[in-house]
Amino acid sequence: DSLRPVTLIPGDGIGPEIADSVKRIFAAAKVPIRWDTIDVTPVRDPVTGKNKLPERLFESMRESGIGLKGPLATPIGKGHISLNLTLRRAFNLYANVRPCRSVDGYKTLYDGVDIVIIRENTEGEYSGIEHEVTRGVVQSIKLITRDASRRVCEYAFQYAHDNNRKSVTVVHKANIMKMSDGLFLEQAREVAKNWPHIEFRECLLDRACLNVIQDPSQFDVLVMPNLYGDIMSDMCAGLIGGLGLTPSGNQGKDGAIFEAVHGTAPDIAGKDLANPTALLLSSVMMLRHMKLEDYANRVENAILSTIAEGQVITGDLGGKAKCSEFTNAICAKLEQA
Ligand code: IPM
Ligand code: MN
Repeated sequence: DSLRPVTLIPGDGIGPEIADSVKRIFAAAKVPIRWDTIDVTPVRDPVTGKNKLPERLFESMRESGIGLKGPLATPIGKGHISLNLTLRRAFNLYANVRPCRSVDGYKTLYDGVDIVIIRENTEGEYSGIEHEVTRGVVQSIKLITRDASRRVCEYAFQYAHDNNRKSVTVVHKANIMKMSDGLFLEQAREVAKNWPHIEFRECLLDRACLNVIQDPSQFDVLVMPNLYGDIMSDMCAGLIGGLGLTPSGNQGKDGAIFEAVHGTAPDIAGKDLANPTALLLSSVMMLRHMKLEDYANRVENAILSTIAEGQVITGDLGGKAKCSEFTNAICAKLEQA
């Protein structure tokens, strides 16, 4: 058939509920795609004994090149390496784009927040290289390479250019991590030279946190190593009303996977209480990526106007609506249209 395939990974915890919300809303908007739904419960490799992703996922992603995923449970401390990371690495999704924009109708201390974090997505403290040197002494390697630093900085400037953004700020700790962050910073500086019409700024991570909290309007696009981007994304989500609202896109050369910034929320899983907005806005990013701009706009308007009206909103935003009721309200708008 002529419908473009999209790989859907519902995920764990609240994942299936919020993925269902996306599916119903896409159906209501008659979005011309076909879901290829994959359960990524890890399979144990009989040879290495390690967990790996099911082969069907690779087949599906090879065909579609585009995925939408719910959160996958990541054990704290001992246990398997996060499948979220495995996915990012397996498909070489090197830039994680995390827009953070104030949502109309949901009042916080800040108005008009409009920040885009571009997070390096394949290395840094997330390289997963750790060992015990001797009892009571462990070493975790922060791996920074010139190539990965360069490509994410290039991505950030290209993104700023394509989206008419004014400035790119590189966030780093090259005063302490002289070599690793120094390398990242050096690459940012070099790339910046190729984009003279985009203002380039440098900011130490701690300072950037202070300034973002004091006045987020001074920031536009931020680019930074992996762990800093992880932390800054939750902090910036706090500016606009929390993790129920922040989408993301993991971008690579041969594919992209869109997901919410939040995790599995086990405390509310299965109770129809989750706010699906973060995954919904991720799916809107996905539609734009697929050049389905009209559908993206329609779906986005239906989501944002439902929140702005404030009648049918979920508990995290101060409402009483269930996930399914919020979804119904959005579908109704799309079906009317
Ligand atoms: C995120 C998440 C993940 C991360 C976890 C679930 C592995 O917090 O996407 O920000 O740390 O990157
Ligand atoms: Mn995170």
